[in-house]
Amino acid sequence: MRIGIDFGTSYSAAAALVGGRLELIRFGDARQFRTAVFFPEQIPNPEDFQLTPALAAQVESIVRASRQQRAQATETQLRRDAIRVVRRQWMEEQTRSASTVIDRFQQALFGEEAVEAYLDEGAGHLIESPKSMLGYRLDAPVRKIIVNIAAHILEHMRLAATRQLGVSVRGVVIGRPVEFRSSMGAAGGEQALELLREAAGMAGFDDVSFLEEPAAAAMHYHLQLAERQRTLIVDIGGGTTDLAWAELGGGEAPHIHRSWGLTKGGTDLDIGLNLHSFMPHFGKGEAPIPAHHFVEAASVHILPKQREFRQQNYRLVDEPFGSRLRALQELGATTRLNRLAERIKIELGEAAQSRALLDFIENDLAVDVDRDDFLRGADDFLKRLQQLLAQAREDMGEAPGGIFLTGGSSRSPHLQACVQACFPEIPLVCGEASLGVVSGLAVAAAG
Ligand SMILES: Nc1ncnc2c1ncn2[C@@H]1O[C@H](COP(=O)(O)OP(=O)(O)OP(=O)(O)O)[C@@H](O)[C@H]1O
Ligand SMILES: [Mg+2]
Repeated sequence: MRIGIDFGTSYSAAAALVGGRLELIRFGDARQFRTAVFFPEQIPNPEDFQLTPALAAQVESIVRASRQQRAQATETQLRRDAIRVVRRQWMEEQTRSASTVIDRFQQALFGEEAVEAYLDEGAGHLIESPKSMLGYRLDAPVRKIIVNIAAHILEHMRLAATRQLGVSVRGVVIGRPVEFRSSMGAAGGEQALELLREAAGMAGFDDVSFLEEPAAAAMHYHLQLAERQRTLIVDIGGGTTDLAWAELGGGEAPHIHRSWGLTKGGTDLDIGLNLHSFMPHFGKGEAPIPAHHFVEAASVHILPKQREFRQQNYRLVDEPFGSRLRALQELGATTRLNRLAERIKIELGEAAQSRALLDFIENDLAVDVDRDDFLRGADDFLKRLQQLLAQAREDMGEAPGGIFLTGGSSRSPHLQACVQACFPEIPLVCGEASLGVVSGLAVAAAG
């Protein structure tokens, strides 16, 4: 059985066609889950220490070596001290070793549950949006961790599908953006696919293929179109924005003419809002702190940047900024702030104004944000989106018959207006924002 998997920057989902009918895989009560994993901190238990033959041999060799240096010590003392050294090394080894990593993986939590556990426990590791790291330069240990995490998420989905469908699931069509977020240009995209393929293999899939996400959304929309139409598909997600120009519907096979990608999405709107509306309350533009510190604090999905921010010393920064920055360095605080930015962004789609309560930073600290603030924070993304749409319009050489919008960020009236402004005369069709891509992947997986 082959399924479709939308391994999204923000949300992941899976689906299959069963007897020609679309079946979405459920995760608990939901049809998607936040692409986040939490691993509890695991401290190895000294009680698990046992003197295996290999460890006993190490003890013997330490005893032999120290016998000459400590002529006064008794045999019992030498043995006791040698065991202590070996046990300490064993503990250090346990903390580092791959088997501990596997144990941690076995206790992993996914989705919203992962984020809650991280915020509640104030310890452990939260990995959000691993997809946005796939195209970055990774050293060997980090590469291994990212592949393991992706494998874990994919296996979670494969097992859920196997349970729900009642058949063994071994094949998958995984969605891919037209362009991955990357620090190495095209090579980053190639690395991302290589890592995903490796992760899918580890997750138990032995038949793995990829399909561009907007092409998948096109396959889904194709089935709803009675008349043949040249359609522009616009998928505005969390990490990327993807377009496809396709000939769809009318009972003939779908045909994708071409696609375009932008490596920005809804998470960049959150970062923009955070930097523009929240960070001035932490001293951005006010205190003599380099601007990149605030970018690092807001970049919650990039682990090295987060680490750098948490290592800064703000003891000498003037109040109230010093205390606020130190509160923001507490485990989980940047994640909370980012969550607030996302919530305010969504609220400002409906309301003209919204208020964020930052009481985890300082008692009664509240920040009011209005639509103009949001638009200023979103300026860079909106400009790039306009450029992408203008480029597509030029490359197509003709106006599309319709525009199909999908992706979570396409719910935003601001972004809908931006698309409409680039194609004033073309009707917009807003699909099921979260499930367009995965539904099309299920169709591709069945074909
Ligand atoms: N009502 C809304 N208004 C604005 N943005 C929204 C709304 N609802 C969800 N979003 C945003 O949609 C994004 C998630 O969209 P989606 O699930 O399509 O992304 P994804 O598929 O995980 O990411 P990608 O396709 O880029 O890998 C998030 O940034 C989220 O904040
Ligand atoms: Mg998506």
